[in-house]
Amino acid sequence: MDMEGKVALVTGAAGVIGTATSRLLASRGARIVAVDLPGTDWSAFADALPDAVLIEADVTQEGDWRRIVSECVAKAGGPHMFFNNAGIEGKVIPFEQMPLEEFERVMDVNVKGVFLGLKHVGPAIAAAGGGAIVNTSSVAGLQGGASTVGYSTSKHAVIGLSRSAALAFGPRGVRVNSVHPGAIESRMMKSLEDASGRGNAMRDGMISAISAGRYGEAEEVAELVAFLLSDNASYCHASRYLVDGGLTQD
Ligand SMILES: NC(=O)c1ccc[n+]([C@@H]2O[C@H](COP(=O)([O-])OP(=O)(O)OC[C@H]3O[C@@H](n4cnc5c(N)ncnc54)[C@H](O)[C@@H]3O)[C@@H](O)[C@H]2O)c1
Repeated sequence: MDMEGKVALVTGAAGVIGTATSRLLASRGARIVAVDLPGTDWSAFADALPDAVLIEADVTQEGDWRRIVSECVAKAGGPHMFFNNAGIEGKVIPFEQMPLEEFERVMDVNVKGVFLGLKHVGPAIAAAGGGAIVNTSSVAGLQGGASTVGYSTSKHAVIGLSRSAALAFGPRGVRVNSVHPGAIESRMMKSLEDASGRGNAMRDGMISAISAGRYGEAEEVAELVAFLLSDNASYCHASRYLVDGGLTQD
């Protein structure tokens, strides 16, 4: 998986999965262009990846995407690989009490943000000679969530976005796939455990449903993403890939 000379654009880069994936791609030779929200604390990321280009932007803003692509091309070249990964979990609230604004907030980042990324980066990869895109969905993109309707709906939508983008950009040499992590050791899972009001009991319940008997690590998600972004995955296209320790058996 030699990625020397390749440029990888990563959103949600300062988060757990974004950082682990950026580190793995960089270790294989890729130049990283990292995107996260204005005001992000980049210190740990920049310590680990001093050569990365850092861009502060909001994935829900189309103007920000124009800037992301032009800065990427001007400062690093490419892009050849795109990890369209920024996402939020939203609040845990029973379906019938879910405020419309909260539903829309989650859809904004997880659907509109992913759509805008594909719209602007897909053609840029084609113009750079082709490459690959991985969108981050979730096991929640394959199952409902009675108290996380926005999150579950948004992650289902990522499958539709991936398939549509695969049809749009595949003929121009851009492969597009989605990854579906299960429960990963992370701030996001801790926040969901806390919000459930059951804390460790929720965690124990999750673990008992996971065949592997544990939460996954961000580095295990990164391995799948790096494979799908690499030329080794040359015939993997328009599909979805789980990394969930056997939780869903889809
Ligand atoms: N952690 C898990 O267990 C898990 C499981 C399945 C799927 N996922 C998905 O993986 C992805 C990464 O999750 P994570 O665990 O690393 O979470 P995280 O919260 O550590 O990282 C997400 C990053 O996205 C950034 N972000 C949020 N809104 C943004 C916006 N509008 N513009 C730009 N950046 C924005 C955040 O600042 C953060 O750095 C998400 O899409 C998440 O839904 C996570």
